[in-house]
Amino acid sequence: MCGIVGYIGYEQAAPFLLKGLEKLQYRGYDSAGVCTNDDGKLVVQKEKGKLDELKNVTDDGKNIKGTVGIGHTRWATHGKPSEINAHPHLSESGSFAVVHNGIIENYMPLKQFLTEKGMSFRSMTDTEVVVQLLEYYYEGDLLGTVLKVAAMLEGSYALAIMYKGNADEIIAVRKGSPLVIGIGKEENYLASDIPAILEKTRNIYRLENGEVAVIRRDSVQIMDYDRNPVQKSIERINWDIHAAQKDGYEHFMLKEIFEQPKAVRDTVETRIKNGRVVLEEVTLTPEQIRQFQKINIVACGSAYHVGVVAKYIFERILRKPVEVDVASEFKYRDPIIDSKTLTVVISQSGETADTKEAMLEAKRHGSHTIAIVNVVGSAIACEADDVIYTLAGPEIAVATTKAYSAQLAVIYMMAVCFGDILGTISETDYQTYVTELLALPDKIQSILAQSESLKNIASKMFACKDAFFIGRNIDYALSLEGSLKLKEISYIHSEAYAAGELKHGTISLIEEGTLVIALVTYGNLFDKIASNIKEVQTRGAYVLGIGSEEHPELRNITQSSFLIPKTCNMMLPSLAVIPMQLLAYYMAKFKGCDIDTPRNLAKSVTVE
Ligand code: G6P
Repeated sequence: MCGIVGYIGYEQAAPFLLKGLEKLQYRGYDSAGVCTNDDGKLVVQKEKGKLDELKNVTDDGKNIKGTVGIGHTRWATHGKPSEINAHPHLSESGSFAVVHNGIIENYMPLKQFLTEKGMSFRSMTDTEVVVQLLEYYYEGDLLGTVLKVAAMLEGSYALAIMYKGNADEIIAVRKGSPLVIGIGKEENYLASDIPAILEKTRNIYRLENGEVAVIRRDSVQIMDYDRNPVQKSIERINWDIHAAQKDGYEHFMLKEIFEQPKAVRDTVETRIKNGRVVLEEVTLTPEQIRQFQKINIVACGSAYHVGVVAKYIFERILRKPVEVDVASEFKYRDPIIDSKTLTVVISQSGETADTKEAMLEAKRHGSHTIAIVNVVGSAIACEADDVIYTLAGPEIAVATTKAYSAQLAVIYMMAVCFGDILGTISETDYQTYVTELLALPDKIQSILAQSESLKNIASKMFACKDAFFIGRNIDYALSLEGSLKLKEISYIHSEAYAAGELKHGTISLIEEGTLVIALVTYGNLFDKIASNIKEVQTRGAYVLGIGSEEHPELRNITQSSFLIPKTCNMMLPSLAVIPMQLLAYYMAKFKGCDIDTPRNLAKSVTVE
């Protein structure tokens, strides 16, 4: 997500800040800015778009004076990408500057409080309340004011703060989002991630949650929110820059697989209030929701696979017919839709041309469109009637993982929220769904903790030429994604098949040693798929079963197996997809493939 840098020393700050921001570009961003203290005045320069814009207007930072400063790359969450929404943010009178990484969840009541006190806001961001609170409460004690304001904030944040009357300190606070402090000689640094400061120093302190740092030219003081000093030993960094950008993971894909608990947690937690799912982004009234006769879903690639899962979920829970289309097919098949059809559009990038065209076609027919999008301010997000953002953070690997998981989480929330409005779910089920939604991140984490066992399974299978993913019901929907993941990064030919349909043709391809991955998480159909497993084994297949710990007998009917924790039927895909992602990743790794940028593929396909 966003990136923070800071510098305090005797050199000009801005050129270093811009170089540091360059190293944080991998986090994804849509605008950037810097602020320095020039002789008691806070000077801010921000630009929308690429860092080059900011470098050009500032001559690589050379025309911004000052030896203390903070910088930021912003990946929009609250408010579209724009110069006004870019950080650093200044308080109303220009006395404080703040950069922020994270989300201030209670920014709305805080903003209301400050507005009632007469303060006015320039941006749409959650961050601006922080800088305004600092100005509102400041009475001469800088650190005390920061601590007072930090205690008022809910959510996650890494903050770097400057006050115009004090050019000798930057104050940094951390709760949730990462921050490291670099130790130099007569100068010190601050960053969201080590690459930003690695050219200057290899000696760092990691700020932990609930800690605050007062960073001066010749000292760094770290304490907790009660001002108790925290003793830390200096950590010496030995890795190269490239590895550090991936947080030590070998590939972005693996890093993103491991970021899934956070992606799901961020997407879900901000939308559950007092035990209820609240989708504030949906502008439809309950009456309008009740009037829809049909739901139409359009998307491409993995997002389409989320749509197929959604069909099973929406039909079961909302009792409305659902049609799912590959977006590139939708427009040209003369679809039957009108204002009684709700259209759900799913896209990580929000830029996929086929998906955008399909959405516009739906709008032309008078259908209300809800887009589930990851990239704020993207084309689909701008054109849709309503946007529900997944808070997965920037996804860099071409093969999607965490965005898929975050999209599923939104589908569950829509099912629960709309089911409540339509009266198609009981209050007991509602409570169960909310409990399970909140438990998902930890359950995903528990599967990730077993990645070594999937690596071991992959080591035995990576040489296979063909693979078949089979499943029934929601497991079939999920098998589509498992198969795509494997083929796109490992180049192993792979097909997904409805387990019951296999015998009507494709079973002719099963021979001695063919790899079959059987998804058996949907317990209601355990016996049926057990028969399909027998059918392929009889013809020589090697079967890896992925099932639920509620059915440990899967171990007895497959050559290899992996069991996921128990959850409600609707949310099984969120858990079962994790072993399939890890399997695909490790098979591709054993084959020596270019995992993050597979041949012929693009992250965002902006042509039809
Ligand atoms: C490309 C990517 C896929 C992705 C699809 C849809 O083909 O390689 O991983 O699922 O586009 O992308 P979107 O950004 O619309 O989700």
